[in-house]
Amino acid sequence: MTQTQLFSSGLELANFVVSLDVLLDAWTAIWNLYTEISQNEGPSSLVKFKVYELPNSTIIAFFTWLANSKDYVQGNGGGDFVTSSNLKESFPVFNFLCSKDNPKFSINKPALELFTSIFAVLPKSVMANSKPLIITGNSLGGSVASLFTLSLLEKFNFLTTKRPLCITFGSPLIGDEGLQEAISKYAAWNSCFLHVVSDQDLVPRVLISQTGVYKPFGTFLLCSKLGCSCFEDPPTILEFLMATYSGNPENQDPNLVFESYRTFVKDLNHKVIFMGTTESFDWTTSPLRAGIITQLAAIGLVPQQQPHNIDINTIITKTENQEKKLALSKKQVFDPSTRLNQVKVHMANLEWYKKVAKDNKIGYYDSYKNVSHTSDLHVVKEMKTLTCYWEELVNEAEKRPQTVGASLRTRWLFGGTNYRRMIEPLDIAEYYKKGKRDYIKQGRPEHYIKLEQWLNETTKPAGVPNDSMKQNVASILTEDSCFWAHVEEALISCKLLTGTGSSEMEKQSSRDSLFKFENYVYGLIKNYAVSPEIFLQRSSFMQWWREYEKIMGTSYSSDLTKLMKDYRNYDKYATGSL
Ligand SMILES: *[C@@H]1O[C@H](CO)[C@@H](O)[C@H](O)[C@H]1NC(C)=O
Ligand SMILES: *[C@@H]1O[C@H](CO)[C@@H](O)[C@H](O)[C@H]1NC(C)=O
Ligand SMILES: *[C@@H]1O[C@H](CO)[C@@H](O)[C@H](O)[C@H]1NC(C)=O
Ligand SMILES: *[C@@H]1O[C@H](CO)[C@@H](O)[C@H](O)[C@H]1NC(C)=O
Repeated sequence: MTQTQLFSSGLELANFVVSLDVLLDAWTAIWNLYTEISQNEGPSSLVKFKVYELPNSTIIAFFTWLANSKDYVQGNGGGDFVTSSNLKESFPVFNFLCSKDNPKFSINKPALELFTSIFAVLPKSVMANSKPLIITGNSLGGSVASLFTLSLLEKFNFLTTKRPLCITFGSPLIGDEGLQEAISKYAAWNSCFLHVVSDQDLVPRVLISQTGVYKPFGTFLLCSKLGCSCFEDPPTILEFLMATYSGNPENQDPNLVFESYRTFVKDLNHKVIFMGTTESFDWTTSPLRAGIITQLAAIGLVPQQQPHNIDINTIITKTENQEKKLALSKKQVFDPSTRLNQVKVHMANLEWYKKVAKDNKIGYYDSYKNVSHTSDLHVVKEMKTLTCYWEELVNEAEKRPQTVGASLRTRWLFGGTNYRRMIEPLDIAEYYKKGKRDYIKQGRPEHYIKLEQWLNETTKPAGVPNDSMKQNVASILTEDSCFWAHVEEALISCKLLTGTGSSEMEKQSSRDSLFKFENYVYGLIKNYAVSPEIFLQRSSFMQWWREYEKIMGTSYSSDLTKLMKDYRNYDKYATGSL
């Protein structure tokens, strides 16, 4: 049934847990814990947990007695919140969820209190386990399972380890929009959560209408006697959680509700979710709409024979729009890893471009600036692609929660620095070609600044150049990616100094900046921090040197002029023997 692909990946998650017994395993763990506790101790208001080692997974199950759950979570009308700023010092486990864009969130107090009451005794090394980790719980135990899973996400490396999967049964919502944002902004986190909700169960619904503050995250699997169906779009989830409630005071025996999950899980085992209802629908409607109708039928919202009931049509249209929006936003989600290989190809093309320019005795900066070869035109496209990639990547890393952002930075720093040193000169060439001035203060794109900052934050400045640095200088990229902007400014200063239209003040400030530039260049050369390509005869730097030499006359002497006047030094520099 290809229509289902129009639905979000939550469906894949749901089908995955169903087809691989994961859902049944999780439920069985809770059931076993429940049986054990009811034989040994009987009802209490505490949360209990137990770790189950299965042949191919580790399950941590949390159990709470249902009888008092509803009233308990509703404490203070559901308005009992703990904010992230209150937790910052006393319980810093969730601090990593705060980011610049999303600085605070709130968590339901009863759920948090249960979690903190056992936090100290929870297993901490579960992440090192090679088996997949499943964290599960019923009712408020499910809330505790969610919080425990959240607390693990910070340390979780999604590239090397299987993500933990949190499966809750009949759990109330636990947080506000801030929490929802923090989790859903990062798709890998959001897909760690699957919440199973029975149409008979009031507990997962009690906080919705109360305050309007609680928001869902993760995937919801809504179940009724007719079947199960899953949703991932938060507004749709809220809508359907309310619409599908079919409990009434008489059947609110918590134990019956608890056991109803067992029926769902057993029925679902090895089935594909909401299969089998499709034939009765009118397939002339759009596939997306038809898919939605199918889903609604599966949870008993659409009478199968007449799917065109007015009220239901409004709901269907609303859902359709939401799903379209969600699908669109997913498409725009940026996946850096898949494009990294393409990026490498573009960088290799630029290396080649640089080599060809060098063979033409011009250097790639000036070759690009002068557009004297057709290869200069091709390179524009490569450059744009690379810039798009890194701009997005820097942007993403900035948006993410701090610790995640920081680890991304470290991972990408090498590539990003290489990119910046290779490409920024070309941006500078374009900038000055347009006759503009002061690139560093007025024209420098934000992502270059960020990439440089990240590098500054992680590496200490290089000390005295050693032999290996000297020998490799021929192949380096100039460390300061703004080098050519300094050269352009120096060229402009030369023009102002010799020009007839300049005021005395302009001339003086030009002279000052030329001295500064001299020192700057001498420092770079001394540290072997600049590419020897600057000495190529047709480079802008050599053009600057020729003009500067003329302006200063033969009597002027400095460290740099001594070095520059002997052209044999250029080769010596390139071979590391200056
Ligand atoms: C675990 O292994 C059993 C049999 O070895 C298999 O039936 C079951 O599907 C597996 N579960 C998962 C989650 O892989
Ligand atoms: C720029 O290109 C023109 C011709 O297209 C050429 O005459 C000139 O020498 C080039 N300038 C440099 C610095 O190579
Ligand atoms: C990075 O460090 C260098 C050297 O200390 C400094 O000149 C430069 O301004 C710093 N860059 C940023 C973006 O902070
Ligand atoms: C030279 O310095 C570089 C960078 O500071 C360093 O990575 C390298 O190991 C050093 N090599 C030797 C031989 O000391």
